[in-house]
Amino acid sequence: MTRIRRVIHAALAVLAIVTLARRGSAQDAAWLSGVRPTANAIWVDSLDLSKTIGREPRPGQAAIGGRGGRAGQPAPAPTPITLDGTVYQHGLGVTSNAELWIDLGGKAKRFVAVGGIDDARKTGRGSVTFEVWVDGRKRFDSGLLKAGQPAVPINVDLSGAKRVALFVGDGGDGTTDDIADWGGAAIVMTDNTAHPVTTGAPVDPPPVVASSATAAPSLNSPRITGSTPGRPFLFRIPASGAGPLKFAAKNLAAGLTLDVTTGIITGALTRAGTTPVDVTVTGPKGKATGTITIVGSQHSLALTPPLGWNSWNVWGGAVTDAEVRAAADALVKTGLAAQGYTYVNIDDAWEGPRDANGEITSNEKFPDMKALADYVHGKGLKIGIYSGPGPRTCQQRFAASYQHEMQDAKTWAKWGFDYIKYDWCSYSDIEPKNGNAELPALQKPYLLLRAVLDGLDRDFVYSLCQYGWGSVWTWGAEVGGNLWRVTGDITDTWASMSGIGFAQTDHEQFAGPGHWNDTDMLVVGKLGWGGTLRDTKLTPNEQLVHISLWSLQAAPLIIGADLSQADEFTINLLGNPEVLAVNQDPLGKAAGRTTRNGRTEVWSRPLSDGTRAVGLFNRDLVAQTMTVKWSDLGLAGSQPVRDLWQHKDLGAKSDAFSVVVPRHGVVLVKIGRPTR
Ligand code: GLA
Repeated sequence: MTRIRRVIHAALAVLAIVTLARRGSAQDAAWLSGVRPTANAIWVDSLDLSKTIGREPRPGQAAIGGRGGRAGQPAPAPTPITLDGTVYQHGLGVTSNAELWIDLGGKAKRFVAVGGIDDARKTGRGSVTFEVWVDGRKRFDSGLLKAGQPAVPINVDLSGAKRVALFVGDGGDGTTDDIADWGGAAIVMTDNTAHPVTTGAPVDPPPVVASSATAAPSLNSPRITGSTPGRPFLFRIPASGAGPLKFAAKNLAAGLTLDVTTGIITGALTRAGTTPVDVTVTGPKGKATGTITIVGSQHSLALTPPLGWNSWNVWGGAVTDAEVRAAADALVKTGLAAQGYTYVNIDDAWEGPRDANGEITSNEKFPDMKALADYVHGKGLKIGIYSGPGPRTCQQRFAASYQHEMQDAKTWAKWGFDYIKYDWCSYSDIEPKNGNAELPALQKPYLLLRAVLDGLDRDFVYSLCQYGWGSVWTWGAEVGGNLWRVTGDITDTWASMSGIGFAQTDHEQFAGPGHWNDTDMLVVGKLGWGGTLRDTKLTPNEQLVHISLWSLQAAPLIIGADLSQADEFTINLLGNPEVLAVNQDPLGKAAGRTTRNGRTEVWSRPLSDGTRAVGLFNRDLVAQTMTVKWSDLGLAGSQPVRDLWQHKDLGAKSDAFSVVVPRHGVVLVKIGRPTR
């Protein structure tokens, strides 16, 4: 913040306090120590905060002391709101990207507070903006406020206003250490009968999403797959359309057989090499043709980002065999398998004790792992399992693979698994986080399992779950990972999802065929983490942001929902073939951020056909008109634009494309004429 702005803020603060003192006879010191500034003032921390968008603020406390909010975790210890050495008895402790919308009914006079990063994070990396939006327009903006800088006084006229939104932005650099306080926050009302009410954000009209179910046959994504010669091969041709469908393949690679009624290809490649296979899908409503490329070589897995399902975000530690089977059934029934979703992954909590020979067993919830894998394979789908390099998994009570790596991998292979998520967690007991965190130590356990997997007679997609230290995206491919987690655990809030997604700038250079940045599993549909199932907290527009951003970034799309209860919107959201074609584009070039203007961002990626996929994202509190210029995309002249969510041609545009993007929303388009 410039000096001049600081001086203005300081002057405003004095004015606010003098005004309050005059009107309500409260003194500055009294206000800070918890006396209301005027009789008509309402502490914001006395309102219902459950409607906050983003993490719920802590009334009268700073937002520190652990994650909180997750089942089984103790509530974080109370920490007073402290700014520049002053403790505020009232106020809100927030993390960035939290919005609190308050209905004022035209009966408010002003909003007063002191905004800053809490003293407890004075030396952190936090940077935030404090903003006050009145009836859809920004009336106060603190400018970028970094940890250690003095807090700013806030005093906003609310005369006649219907609605105010209090917002703390992440300063454009992610949410790390963004522990912010609205110290002493109060709304002064016109009289003592008026009361502000929190409302949640204004509800936008739902986005238009095309149906993923079409009558005419269609060959979907992925269009490329790989396998090690001599190892079991399984691929379900991703094709949709009214059935019964019939499949034909010309030039199928040696060693493989196509089931013409299911489109499932099985066998084992007999030799290395790349085979373009001409596929025809015929149904009562027509015919579709296309090429599926089969690559035979070692380390040719995940040539496009894995598409599938994982148990964690829905069933958590309570997952059972029946739920995994139901997920496989639902992938087929909903048509998502026909759109390319393949992996059915069991996360933590399948493990039983080791037997007398040290061999890992499954627990009582998984009576027969081989039968389960056979069941999933029977549908042309693949199955994933979970472990870690430490002695115990992240759930602590379960055994992980430390000093049993070879033995465990052989067991997974014997059962018929195809994918391993290998989660660091208790490996910190072996190589302590704050002790030996040198790169070779971080890589060691992953290299060990890589070597073990290479010696098996089965292919495993290798998913590294490592986050917290060591920039895994810079070396995940080097240790043979097919994907690696670049973030802590996601939750279904705008702050969590957008905080993760929009923090991926510059990571795109590390993604490519066979090795992808994993921004964690999807948080749409019915979720629960092992507790009561409920709908995602993301709005429909926010869900489009989630899937668009993950698709542009070539992130794995691993569904975390109970698909047996998926509604039409969720299925169309997850199964949109034109959006999935972006995610699964065989060129494998992940999007980076092309431009940013305040809280609107354009992300784009080149596609294998010579066109570009472009997402216009609005992270702001209200709708914004956004423009992407051809010059930003390396394009020129007149170019056709197609809306991918709606499957709608928007016509040819010259030099630029402008569109109104809803709050927390996206418009995802494909621009250009195919050249290949
Ligand atoms: C960690 C991972 C999650 C999940 C749990 C299971 O938190 O990040 O994705 O696998 O462990 O315990």
